[in-house]
Amino acid sequence: MKGLVLAGGKGSRLRPLTATGAKQLVPVANKPVLFYALEQLVAAGVTEIGIITGDTADQVMSAVGNGEAFGASVTYLQQSAPLGLAHAIITAEPWLGDSPFCMFLGDNFLGGGIVPYADRFRQEHCAAHILLRRVDDASSLGVAVLNGDGRVVKLVEKPREPISDLAVIGVYFFGPEVHEITPTLKPSARGELEITDAIQGLIDAGHAVHAQTIADDWIDTGKKDDMLEANRLVLGGLQRRIDGTVDADSTLVGPVVIEVGASVLGSTVRGPAVIGAGTTVQDAYIGPFTAIGPGCELSGCEIENSILLEGCVVRNVERRIADSLIGREVVVERSPLRPQAIRLMLGDHSRVDVV
Ligand code: DAU
Repeated sequence: MKGLVLAGGKGSRLRPLTATGAKQLVPVANKPVLFYALEQLVAAGVTEIGIITGDTADQVMSAVGNGEAFGASVTYLQQSAPLGLAHAIITAEPWLGDSPFCMFLGDNFLGGGIVPYADRFRQEHCAAHILLRRVDDASSLGVAVLNGDGRVVKLVEKPREPISDLAVIGVYFFGPEVHEITPTLKPSARGELEITDAIQGLIDAGHAVHAQTIADDWIDTGKKDDMLEANRLVLGGLQRRIDGTVDADSTLVGPVVIEVGASVLGSTVRGPAVIGAGTTVQDAYIGPFTAIGPGCELSGCEIENSILLEGCVVRNVERRIADSLIGREVVVERSPLRPQAIRLMLGDHSRVDVV
């Protein structure tokens, strides 16, 4: 079985972070969300992996390389435009050939990995095996309607009326039959060739489509709070590791990772939390469920339940920063300048909550 990982697309819901950066590279516990997908494929014995790329191809390629670091062999497949998940399959068809494949959306985070699902697909003969999860609100997702025997009868993309609470999660297993359907698809109302329509096409053509409802943690990391939730989940399983420096005036509580070259001075870090390589934390409090990226400088501040990307500076900010996702090389600092005012230099689509 081959792996097809989707790392193209637009990422409009995570702007401004994704205005120029790939949304699949936004880190969860200091590791790009995309890397979890690659690791989980390899853990399931899928080492021949094609990665669909779009405008951010350079960033994805420099982060993943040839796949060796993951124990995989990676081929990059450039999609002409983000024309839909089924269009990504059309793009990949020459590379996929008639091999069965696992398609993994590069912004989906699955708590328990894919080993049992991959094994089941290998054992059962079917044209598609999809994973479903009950959700409170499926209006922004693909949903499946099952009959009394648990067979999928209908799939709808982002339903306006609530027809099912079973969301189709972004990990799919396909046989080569899907290539009979994709050329027949028409763009949806949002102008995309939808994966739900491709699976519906398989059902309508009489192919076996199996569905499995899972209870694992699953997050479509499209929005800030989803990223923070994925971060909480991963940090929840953190083991303490101190590779950096912690001075005698500092206190570390619970599972804390201090990466190599990081220094913690006169500060309290209450885990689970990770402090990235080369970061300095001075006279500060870092609270639970916080991932501070590499090369940051934090002093005279308090931060919790947040993700900070590399190279951020937070200095002398009296109020605690919480529930925040802060991009690369952002500076947040108390200013001595008069008049006292909040001075902002923010990218398009930024959001600031002031108290
Ligand atoms: O997260 C699960 C949902 O993913 C499913 O329930 C939906 O049925 C499915 O359509 C998809 O919905 P989204 O609207 O969330 O898909 P999104 O546009 O976010 O794209 C998912 C990933 O695929 C993302 O990493 C970007 C990438 N992508 C997307 C498109 C449209 C591509 O690589 N190429 C594309 O053309």
